Amino acid sequence: MNLNQKGVRALFNKRALTPFEIMKYLHLAFAFLTISGFVLRGIWMLRGSSLSRHPLTRTVPHVIDALFLGTGIALVLQLQLAVLQNDWLLAKFAGLVIYIVLGAIALRHGKTMHARRLAFAGAVCAFFYIVGAAVSKSPLSWLA
Ligand code: HEM
Repeated sequence: MNLNQKGVRALFNKRALTPFEIMKYLHLAFAFLTISGFVLRGIWMLRGSSLSRHPLTRTVPHVIDALFLGTGIALVLQLQLAVLQNDWLLAKFAGLVIYIVLGAIALRHGKTMHARRLAFAGAVCAFFYIVGAAVSKSPLSWLA
């Protein structure tokens, strides 16, 4: 039984979750929130909606992303992982940098709509590459 199955079983049997399980579920929840928020902002950007300039749209994603990164770092510490010796973790970091750069081009810095659309699609691909690397624990991601 892997950790995910153990965690789900704990929820059903009302066993207390371990601190690691709690952190992992928080990490997953923030991953879901961050990509949902990104896609929503992308749609607003593509439609030219004024919602993309709303003060909450400018602040809430930073809070979510900071908490998301915090749960990732907490998992690394809890598992006592050596970052440089875990290629899947390095692949996640590389993917995260690409996701952030392409995300910034898509939502902020892209000069043309075409560039923004391409960057948006690339950022979503980078995100799903990272999920694949996390699940498979391999830089080959979904191809592993
Ligand atoms: C866009 C960025 C990220 C996404 C989409 C993501 C996604 C995920 C997912 C889906 C899992 C669960 C994999 C499983 O089924 O076991 C996971 C696990 C993990 N993540 Fe992330 N993550 C991201 C960023 C980070 C960052 C920045 C760190 C470190 C600072 C990190 C550290 C970890 C660790 C250590 C685990 C492994 C937990 C385990 O062994 O069960 N993640 N991540």
